[in-house]
Amino acid sequence: MHVLVTGGAGYIGSHTCLELLDAGYTVSVVDNLCNSSRIALTRVEELCGKKINFIELDLLDMQGLSQVFSRHPDIGAVIHFAGLKAVGESVEQPLRYYQNNLIGTLNLCEAMAKHGVKHIVFSSSATVYGTPARLPIQEDFPTSATNPYGRSKLMIEEMLADLHISDQTWQVVLLRYFNPVGAHPSGRIGEDPKGIPNNLMPYITQVAAGRLKELNVFGNDYPTIDGTGVRDYLHVVDLAKGHVKALEYTQKRSGVFIYNLGTGQGSSVLEMVRAFMEANKIDIAYRISPRRPGDIAECYADASLALRELGWQTEYGLTDMCRHAWNWQKNNPEGYPPSA
Ligand code: NAD
Ligand code: UD1
Repeated sequence: MHVLVTGGAGYIGSHTCLELLDAGYTVSVVDNLCNSSRIALTRVEELCGKKINFIELDLLDMQGLSQVFSRHPDIGAVIHFAGLKAVGESVEQPLRYYQNNLIGTLNLCEAMAKHGVKHIVFSSSATVYGTPARLPIQEDFPTSATNPYGRSKLMIEEMLADLHISDQTWQVVLLRYFNPVGAHPSGRIGEDPKGIPNNLMPYITQVAAGRLKELNVFGNDYPTIDGTGVRDYLHVVDLAKGHVKALEYTQKRSGVFIYNLGTGQGSSVLEMVRAFMEANKIDIAYRISPRRPGDIAECYADASLALRELGWQTEYGLTDMCRHAWNWQKNNPEGYPPSA
């Protein structure tokens, strides 16, 4: 089957393209490269010895998008990663986030409907659970949002569910990711954040590389095992495999399918720092800083539904996540080289 991957040049998208190609799918990617490099896809092609049909295009270009489907009438499903994802930036530039994430998805769905493609897998986030009342988090927990990024995810989830109500032949999959980290074991593709990283693991790897002086641990007075924030970190390759499983399971089923993709295990910031130091035999300088506004104390998944229905569970552990994240950073200290 031919799968269109929006945002396929990005961090999770590139790893998913590799898994799709390895599983025998034909892959087209639409990406405007606003937060990624074409080189990621060249490396995916090198890793699996197969080609990707890359189309540099903004989802806001409705006409261009429609042409993609008319030129490739065999596209049977879409995995939709394309979106802006920085929480702080979304608070400063809400209109840009709504424009890009919502209008981009609207255009995509319109183009899909016009060409009779009704199978979509969407990148949602654990952020839609807001501050959970209980742990671990199950898919039927109440949802809420505290910032424009999270709200865009929630709105898109609802829009896709409405689409299914209006036409029950749609196959809608909402994957709520917990905290993806790490990189492909080859060290050829990985996370390449622009500027100073917001997220924990890329910050740690840049401290290890000497690009940043020390890690700020945001708060040590949370009601958690050691006072620092607890999250459910999962290996990006496991996450990528979850997309292939979700695509396969929903191939012949219509409906709205919601899955948590996480390990089910929480780790604190200090546990992550220790795991990184032990896995890679490198010291990470850190200091305790004030809490980051908007952070919650603890968040981890009940991922048993994905296991029951998709047959998916994570295989990599914390040591692999830390080792592979460092292997990527070490081999690509400045991220991907500039495109020729
Ligand atoms: P990323 O920024 O690496 O990838 C997103 C890709 O989308 C980039 O290649 C970017 O160039 C592209 N893009 C953005 N807007 C576009 C547009 N209008 N038209 C075409 N391409 C566009 O991010 P990622 O970490 O790979 O995340 C992928 C998806 O998963 C995002 O939707 C993100 O919100 C979601 N998500 C990520 C995480 C995480 O921790 N990384 C967690 C939960 C959910
Ligand atoms: C963040 C976003 C979330 C988004 C996810 C993936 C916020 C509030 N949440 O999740 O919406 O889906 O990224 O992009 O931004 N930490 C430090 N020092 C750092 C960085 C992080 O101590 O320099 C701590 C945080 O306080 C948190 C943990 O590490 O306890 C993980 O942080 P992060 O990697 O940013 O992920 P989330 O906050 O879970």
